[in-house]
Amino acid sequence: MWKLCELLLVWASFLAAEVSGADRHSRHDFPSDFVFGAGTSAYQVEGAANEDGRTPSIFDTYAHSGLTHGANGDVACDQYHKYKEDVQLMVETGLEAYRFSISWSRLIPNGRGPVNPKGLQYYNHLIDELISHGVQPHVTLHHADLPQALEDEYGGWINRKIVKDFTVYAEVCFREFGDRIRHWTTFNEANVFVLAGYDSGILPPQRCSFPFGLVNCSQGNSSIEPYLAAHNILLAHASAARTYKNIYQAKNMLTYHIPFRR
Ligand SMILES: *[C@@H]1O[C@H](CO)[C@@H](O)[C@H](O)[C@H]1NC(C)=O
Ligand SMILES: *[C@@H]1O[C@H](CO)[C@@H](O)[C@H](O)[C@H]1NC(C)=O
Repeated sequence: MWKLCELLLVWASFLAAEVSGADRHSRHDFPSDFVFGAGTSAYQVEGAANEDGRTPSIFDTYAHSGLTHGANGDVACDQYHKYKEDVQLMVETGLEAYRFSISWSRLIPNGRGPVNPKGLQYYNHLIDELISHGVQPHVTLHHADLPQALEDEYGGWINRKIVKDFTVYAEVCFREFGDRIRHWTTFNEANVFVLAGYDSGILPPQRCSFPFGLVNCSQGNSSIEPYLAAHNILLAHASAARTYKNIYQAKNMLTYHIPFRR
């Protein structure tokens, strides 16, 4: 829960700084459809990294490479086990929305193939818990945590094959959770992921080359890979968004009727 609290504080001070000229603010200073919330990523908060069928992502590999001074997400905030307490804290904080990401390698271990029933169950429980407490769920599909298996098999985002695998994963999410999720984000900060992962090499999958790398990467090519990865991410976004609009949006709109707290 600490990370969530930190994020909240940052966000709150951001808001305070942006509304200048007044020293007191209330909800009424914002449009009625403005949503107050907090956001996390799966690897930041879930923990349970090796439980119930989850396999490592590129972030697990990075966090165990010795470069993070021992910090890793094996336990993190343990939201996997403590989601009910976390939702309770969100209610007490007065959050209207919670943005979280789905761990691809928890839902579909190794990136493709059968869906992991335990992963499915966890996200269903989390979403239901949020909704039953009037907290609007917002879902991110990829927050820097590509399944390591796909990185190993064909190079992950630098290979065009990723577009198909991402679309299948996204479709599982739309199909399983779309009756209750109205707000989807395909990629968190695609630009940061690409620059840090393939140009400077400071974040997973830590690919870069001289003289652009800020670390000594064991592989990569900073001149071309950032563009390959960015291109494939754009294609994957387009493919998933089209699938959603063509198949799931209209269907989910019909069944979607959940009143949110205001
Ligand atoms: C990378 O390796 C070279 C040669 O061993 C070394 O001089 C340099 O300091 C290293 N750079 C970083 C960022 O570790
Ligand atoms: C990166 O790829 C380009 C194009 O194939 C090539 O010219 C360049 O030498 C490569 N750089 C490294 C560091 O491998």
